[in-house]
Amino acid sequence: MCGIVGYIGTKPNAIKTIIDGLEALEYRGYDSAGIAYVEKNQITIKKKEGRIATLKKTLDFDLPIFMGIGHTRWATHGEPNEKNSHPHQCGKFTIVHNGIIENYAELKKELEEKGYIFKSDTDTEVACAMLDAIYQEELDILKTLSIAEQKLKGSYALGILCSDDLNTLYAMRNKSPLIVAEKGENKFIASDVPAILSYTNEYYLLDDFDIAILKENSLSFYHPKKGYFEKEKLIFEGNVESSRKEGYEHYMLKEIHEQPKVIMDTIQYYYDGTKESLDKNLPNLDKYNNIHIVACGSAYHTGLVTKTLIEEIVELPVTCEIASEYRYKKVFYDESTLVIVISQSGETADTLASLRKAKKDHIDTLAIVNVIGSSIAREADNVLYIKAGCEIAVATTKAYSAQLALLSLLTLKLAIIHNKIEVQELSTINGQLVELPNMIEKLILNDQYRKIATNIYQREDIFYLGRKLDYAISMEGALKLKEISYINSVSYPAGELKHGTISLVEKNTPVIGIITDSTMKEKTISNLKETSARGASIIAISTEVISDVAELILIPTVHPLWQALLTIIPLQLIAYEIAKLRGCDIDKPRNLAKSVTVE
Ligand code: F6R
Repeated sequence: MCGIVGYIGTKPNAIKTIIDGLEALEYRGYDSAGIAYVEKNQITIKKKEGRIATLKKTLDFDLPIFMGIGHTRWATHGEPNEKNSHPHQCGKFTIVHNGIIENYAELKKELEEKGYIFKSDTDTEVACAMLDAIYQEELDILKTLSIAEQKLKGSYALGILCSDDLNTLYAMRNKSPLIVAEKGENKFIASDVPAILSYTNEYYLLDDFDIAILKENSLSFYHPKKGYFEKEKLIFEGNVESSRKEGYEHYMLKEIHEQPKVIMDTIQYYYDGTKESLDKNLPNLDKYNNIHIVACGSAYHTGLVTKTLIEEIVELPVTCEIASEYRYKKVFYDESTLVIVISQSGETADTLASLRKAKKDHIDTLAIVNVIGSSIAREADNVLYIKAGCEIAVATTKAYSAQLALLSLLTLKLAIIHNKIEVQELSTINGQLVELPNMIEKLILNDQYRKIATNIYQREDIFYLGRKLDYAISMEGALKLKEISYINSVSYPAGELKHGTISLVEKNTPVIGIITDSTMKEKTISNLKETSARGASIIAISTEVISDVAELILIPTVHPLWQALLTIIPLQLIAYEIAKLRGCDIDKPRNLAKSVTVE
C-alpha cells in the first residue's frame, strides 16, 4: 500500500533520491504522490493526483535540497485527489503516513474544539494536527512523538518533519512496516527495501513504537519505555539488479520467467530428495490431524490447492479460509490443530489478525512468508520462508508458485508421516522434480498464448472451469485475468455452472477448462460440452488431447504434488497477453496495492 521514502544527508539532490525511491516502491500501488522538502529553512510541499510522473513535472531537480519526505498514497480515508494526498502539514508538523488511524474521528473532534481546521478528509491530517497540539504543550519533539504513540489507535508508519528542527528527520511505526538505512552521511527511511537498494542493502527494521531519529551525522533509535537503544542491522539478500526489469517489458513477465528458479530454490532449500532433509528442515508435524490454512487472495488460492492435496494424498481434513472471514468467525480448534498462514508480504492485515487469533487461543501456528522479518514472520510460532526474492508486480506469480512448492513439501512430509507414500512413488516424485524447471521453461516459451489472447481479449466475461485440484488452480487463473485485464472472469467447479451461471454463456463466450486430474477428466469434459452446446468457445488446458475445442494447451502429466506448478503457467501468460492487448497497466493495476496492510 502507500509508499514512504525520506532522506537526510550531504547529497544535494534529495528530491531525486526521494523520487527514485518512490519509483522503486511503485509496485505497492498508489493513486497520488507528494513530496515535502526543506529549502532555505522552509518546508515546500508538492503533490499531485495520479502517477509519480505527473508529480515530477512540478519539481525542480536542480535545487540543492538535503532533506525531505515523499509519499505515494493508496486512498483509504477520502478520495484519491490532491487535497487528500500526502504530505500533510499542520502547524509545525509535516508528515507522510502509511496505515489507518482508527480513532481519527474522535481525535478530529477534540482538535476541532481546540481550533484546528482541516483541509482534507484524511486520518493523516488529524494525526499531524495531533502532533502539533501535543507539541504546543510539551515543546519537545521526542516527548511529543512518545505521547502520540499512546494516543493513536490503529496502524501507522510515519515520516515526520518539524519546522522547529529542520536538521532532523523523525520516523515511527506501529503495525505498518518501516525501515531505516544509512550510507555514511546519508540516511533514509522507507516502507520497503527496494527504495534504498541503490545505496545499501543493510537496513534496520523498526518495531512497533520505535522512533528513529535521523540526522546528517547520526542515527539513533528511541523507545518510549526503553529510552535510547541499539538496533540490529539486517541484510537484504537480493541486489538492485534483482529488483529491475532486466529487459522484460513488465515486471510481471520477468517474474513469470523467474519461476523455474524460485521454485527450485525454494524446494532445494528444504529438500534434497531424502526424508531426513524434510525432518531436519521442516517443523515436526506428527501431532497435527486438523489443519487450518488461512490467507488472502492468491495466497488463499495456494491454500485451496494444498487442501486438495492433503485431503487426497494424506487423507487428513483441511479447512482453508479467507483471512478476513476467519478472523471474525467462530472457529473450531482442538489440540491437534495447526494454523498455517500464507503471505507473500507478511504484512497483510487480515492474515496477521487471523494469526493473532490462533495464538490468543494457544493454537500452534506456522507462517509461509516471502518477506524476511515481516510482522507475520516474526509473530508466528514457526516460519518457513519461500525463496521468491523481491516481487514487484502487484499481481503475484513467482511468490504464488514458490508458496505452492513449499506447501507441496509440507504435504509430502505429512504423507510420509502418515505412511501414504510408497518408496516407488517417492522415487517418481524425485525424478520429476529434476525435470520440473525444464517443463516449466517449455510451458513459458509456448507460443499459443498470444493467439488465444487475440481471439478473446475483447470479451467482457470469461469463465474458468475445473474440478478438485483443477478447480483450485482455476481460481488463481481467474483472479490473474481479472486483476490485470479488468475482464470479469470467474472460476467455477465444473459441475456447478448448470445451477445458474450457465445462463450467462452465449455464442463465443470463452470458457477455459482445466483437465489435469485424470479421475475427473470425463466429468469435466462433459461439463465443458454443456457450455459448447450453448455456443461457448472452449480453451482446454489439459494433460491429454481433448477433441472439439477451439484451443488446446497440452501440459505434461506429473505427480499431483507438482501438477499445479505446471498448470498455472498458461493461466498466468494468457492473463498477461490479454492485459497487454487491452493496453492495461500490467504491473500496477488500478485500485490495487501490493501489500494490503488495512482490513
Ligand atoms: C493477487 C495478489 C493478492 C495477494 C493478497 C495477499 O495477485 O497478489 O491477491 O495474494 O493480497 O497478499 P500477501 O500474500 O502479501 O498476504
